[in-house]
Amino acid sequence: MTDSVVVSIGGSILIPGDNDAEYIGKLAKMLKEVSEEVSVSVVVGGGKTARYYASNAAELGGSMFDQDILGIEATRLNAQLLSLALGDMPKRVPETVEQFVEARRTRTIPVMGGTEPGHTTDAVSAMIAKAIKADRVVNATSVDAVYTDDPRKNPGAKRIERMTIDELGDIVYKEHGASKSSVFDPMGVGIAKENRIDILMVDGRNLEELRKAILGQPFSGTFVDSHRAGPDPPRSPSRSPGTVLSPLCGAPRASSWTSCAHRRNRCRWPRMRA
Ligand code: UTP
Repeated sequence: MTDSVVVSIGGSILIPGDNDAEYIGKLAKMLKEVSEEVSVSVVVGGGKTARYYASNAAELGGSMFDQDILGIEATRLNAQLLSLALGDMPKRVPETVEQFVEARRTRTIPVMGGTEPGHTTDAVSAMIAKAIKADRVVNATSVDAVYTDDPRKNPGAKRIERMTIDELGDIVYKEHGASKSSVFDPMGVGIAKENRIDILMVDGRNLEELRKAILGQPFSGTFVDSHRAGPDPPRSPSRSPGTVLSPLCGAPRASSWTSCAHRRNRCRWPRMRA
């Protein structure tokens, strides 16, 4: 069965204001290519357009609700731009999860932005993943991985290659309480945990790594395992030296699908490397 993947693209990746059309064109081309192998659904963030409107609205006395409404419009504008690059721009992108599910019937790569005030497009991507029973959410962000701390402020911050959803939850709740997080929306973490949807964090400007993450291949970034609770257990010390572990599910490389310790993740590692 074909894997189903939700790709969440931060607005800061899509429209940083530097050769945006060139990047969006290349991204669209890559998405079309991978959609021949996996089913691709895309959610796009608002980026600096959203921030521009939100900060001006705040100065004018607008509430958080008002700012969210403007942010959502920015996400939809970006979603239209990417749809155009994909050769299929609708007058309005899907505005609800239900509309998105409907759009999947007719569009090869449906794209949407936000839904309603109170969360970010990270949460929307988890909602879509739940609705369509996706195998994973690939979060294309402006950093190359999750770190133990902000690497721009703390040079001692460590890069995390894999973690459990509970560990991601610890980070996002510690960061901002129940509000928005720079790593992943806490609401999205909750949905991913409840529905056992893995989250793959990858640098969205690195199209090669993004492609690998979408295809379920070993990639450079952070793999968030939603099939295991608690902290990520240490790798088995008893494994023979040189054993190769899947960066996707952490299981030792195996020669058959059934010997992968985490089959429920639909880890492709044994298949690909056997
Ligand atoms: P996002 O925060 O999802 O955009 O939405 P983004 O581009 O991913 O942000 P970066 O790139 O990571 O910085 C922008 C704003 O739109 C509103 C929120 O105010 C959010 O901060 N929004 C978005 C909603 O209120 N509901 C949604 O469903 C989506």
